[in-house]
Amino acid sequence: RTHRDQDRAAEASEGLPELGSPAIPAVPGRFRNTPDTDMSTPGNQRWAEMITHRLRGSRIGVEEAQRIRVDSVEGVDAVLSKAIDAQRGWAALPAQKRAAVLRRAARVLAAHRAELLEVAASETGKTLDQGDPEISEAIDFALYYADQAEALATDAETAFTPRRLTLVTPPWNFPIAIPTGSMLAPLATGSAVVMKPAPQARRCGAYLGRLLHEAGVPEGVLTVVDVPEDETGRALITDERVDQLILTGGYETAELFASWRPELRIMAETSGKNAIVVTPHADLDLAAKDVAASAFGHAGQKCSAASLVITVGSVSRSRRFMAQLADAVLSLHVGHPIDPTVQMGPVIEPPGEKLASGLTELGEGETWLSRPRQLDEEGRVFTPGVREGVKEGSPFHLTEYFGPVLGIMHAPTLEDAVRMQNGTAYGLTAGLHSLDPAEISWWTEHVEAGNLYVNRGITGAIVERQSFGGWKRSAIGKTAKAGGPNYLVHLMDAADREPGD
Ligand code: ALA
Repeated sequence: RTHRDQDRAAEASEGLPELGSPAIPAVPGRFRNTPDTDMSTPGNQRWAEMITHRLRGSRIGVEEAQRIRVDSVEGVDAVLSKAIDAQRGWAALPAQKRAAVLRRAARVLAAHRAELLEVAASETGKTLDQGDPEISEAIDFALYYADQAEALATDAETAFTPRRLTLVTPPWNFPIAIPTGSMLAPLATGSAVVMKPAPQARRCGAYLGRLLHEAGVPEGVLTVVDVPEDETGRALITDERVDQLILTGGYETAELFASWRPELRIMAETSGKNAIVVTPHADLDLAAKDVAASAFGHAGQKCSAASLVITVGSVSRSRRFMAQLADAVLSLHVGHPIDPTVQMGPVIEPPGEKLASGLTELGEGETWLSRPRQLDEEGRVFTPGVREGVKEGSPFHLTEYFGPVLGIMHAPTLEDAVRMQNGTAYGLTAGLHSLDPAEISWWTEHVEAGNLYVNRGITGAIVERQSFGGWKRSAIGKTAKAGGPNYLVHLMDAADREPGD
């Protein structure tokens, strides 16, 4: 497309109604997942073009991000005092009133789907096809936790009480869904929330804060703060008024925070080194497609991403699967999200030492099935890398690289494959491609991961249907699965109800 075509698309879009996916009318107590935008309709395609046209000069969230800066320990103290004061009134409301605010938040998020896609793409490089399900998930969290909070409030056996202050530290790779879910869950329980966005996703976090306030979350009950990661940030985590921390990020970060305050309740979902096993009983076409999508969606920058595929027996020996995988990977359209057809966007910043080595240096016995190439000057856009012959126990088997590079391992039997799959320190997502029921049940019994996927990709958990949480070094603290029935319970204190309560 030429620039003139783009201008014309933008002109044509002026005055168009807001498209995207329709907002679902929320029926309290009857949760339904929100559909993603149907990009096959011409109206929605024009809507997507309008968003991408605006990306270069996008200002969404810029002003909000300037207002949330807190630079000093005294500033942190003031934020926490205000939160503690505001929490009393919030917790005193009936659960139904807080749930109503969450349902309003769902409507506000749905009404701003275009702006949310715009800020995620312009600030973090998220492509539209990856960003759109994230907005749906954020809406789902709001509706689901509203229902859950109402149900807990009427539990006949157990009285649940909220904690006063929850600190939320989300990651940059899901800059909409994860902060939204991590803020709304404790808010639904009656806790106050202070949220510190990742430095790479300040605009997203600040803009989300504005939308939640617009939906009726009172000032003070929710504060989004941009705090430098020095003694000011440390003051936020070590302040005793913070009762609990919901963290999504690296294992080492969670461990560091836990060491600062061993008594702090932490709900942390951390790193992963996830593999998909492909057996001779798999539908190989489907497996190749799912491996490529799981490895290279959002340029591999998902804790849930596949960074290994383990082929079993004859799948390793025949070249058919490798050829199909190479085809699937090489046909991905790589570029910048200003093009709505791009399927794999940039990495968040030029690779540091670890990812750079994963993209360039092969281990012993490894060869490139597809060698990554840098496409831009800045060093953020890479074609997908696939390395074959990764050995058990080698650095590529055990290390999380968090970028667009996949390793292939070969295993003689399914037992060997599962030993390799379980052989890392982590246990976040795991996949199996096999149409044999005996293999599926054996694998399900033996694999060690929080989230198991059979005959589908291993990213993209869905609220209520597939709640999400880690095991082993993919979690710290008392964890429950986000988007699942026990999440709010773990954020509250529980006691038996006394007669007359
Ligand atoms: N919840 C995200 C996924 O499932 C991390 O991909």
